[in-house]
Amino acid sequence: MVPALEFDEVTKQYNRWYRPQRVTALDGLTLTVEPGEIFGFLGPNGAGKTTAIHLAMGFMRPTAGRGLMLGKPFGDRKTRRRIGFLAENVALYYRPAEELVRFYGALNDVPGPCLKLRVRKVLEALGLVEYARRNAGKFSRGLLQRVGLAQALINDPELVVLDEPTSALDPVARVTVRELLTNMRNLGKTVFVSSHLLSEVELISDRVAVLNRGRLVRVGKTSELLASDEKLEITVRGIRPDVFPGGQALNGVVKFRIGSQQQRAALEQVWQLGGEVLSVNPVRRSLEQVFLELTAPAPAGAERISHR
Ligand SMILES: Nc1ncnc2c1ncn2[C@@H]1O[C@H](COP(=O)(O)OP(=O)(O)OP(=O)(O)O)[C@@H](O)[C@H]1O
Ligand SMILES: [Mg+2]
Repeated sequence: MVPALEFDEVTKQYNRWYRPQRVTALDGLTLTVEPGEIFGFLGPNGAGKTTAIHLAMGFMRPTAGRGLMLGKPFGDRKTRRRIGFLAENVALYYRPAEELVRFYGALNDVPGPCLKLRVRKVLEALGLVEYARRNAGKFSRGLLQRVGLAQALINDPELVVLDEPTSALDPVARVTVRELLTNMRNLGKTVFVSSHLLSEVELISDRVAVLNRGRLVRVGKTSELLASDEKLEITVRGIRPDVFPGGQALNGVVKFRIGSQQQRAALEQVWQLGGEVLSVNPVRRSLEQVFLELTAPAPAGAERISHR
C-alpha cells in the first residue's frame, strides 16, 4: 500500500536576512505515515512541526531531501484535492461561515450536487449550524478553528493534515473532534495531527512521533511508548498487603508494583501464599512524561543555528 505521507531525509533551513546564520528548523526528518492510522506529531515550541507540515503541503521547498504525499511529490496540485488541511492559525475572510466552507469545497472540486449536502454535513458535525450565516470574520478562536476544520473536511479527504486542531476548542468541541477523527480512521482515512495537547493525542493516536529541535527523537506505537517495561502492576486477592513493598489493599483486593524481572517470582509467591492473581498490567506512563523525558534538557524554543 502507498504510504499516506513520507518524509525522506527532509531538511529545512530558513535564511535570516539580518544575520548570516541560518536556522535549521528541520534536520533530516525521515518518517512514514501509513494509510488508515491516526498519527500524532509532537514536539515543544519551535521543534519544527509546522515547518514539516508546510513542506508536506508544498507551501515551500525543503533545503534537502524529498517527500511524498499519497505517493506524489510534496506540493502536487492534483493530490491537494484529496487532502484536508487545517493551518495552525486559522484566518478567514469576512464572509458567512457556510459560504466559506462551500467556497473551499468548490475550490477542491467537490461536485455541485454533492456540495450542498457535504456543507450541511460538516457544519452539523462541527456544531456550526447555528453559526452558518454569521460572519466568520468576527468569530471567537474556537469557532474559527471549527470552521477551519469544516473546510479541511469538506472534500471528504483521504488524508487530513491538522496543525494543532484543538488548541482553542472547549471540552465539548474537543470530544466532537476526537470522534470525528476516529470515525475518519474507521473509514480507512489517514489523520496526521500535530498537537500540544498530549492527553488528547494519547487518546486517539495509533502512533506518535516526537520531534525536538528539528530532529526526530522517537517514533512508535502510542501504547508501546506509554508502557514502561520496567514496572508492572499486579492485582491479587487473598494475601496481606504487606507481603510486597508498597502493597495497597482496597475491598479485599491488593495492588502492588514490581520490576518486570521479578514478575515470575512475585506470582509464584502469591500462589504459594494461597492468593489469586487477578491481573498483571504494564504501568503506563502519561504521554506528557514520555514527552518531557524525550525533549529534556533542550530548552524549549531554542533555535539550531547553521553557519553554512
Ligand atoms: N519563516 C521563518 N523564518 C525563519 N525562521 C523560522 C520561520 N518559521 C519557523 N522558523 C523557525 O524554525 C523553527 C521551527 O519552527 P516551527 O514553527 O516549525 O515549530 P513548531 O514545532 O511548529 O512550533 P510551535 O509548537 O510553537 O507551533 C523555530 O526555531 C522557528 O523560529
Ligand atoms: Mg507550529
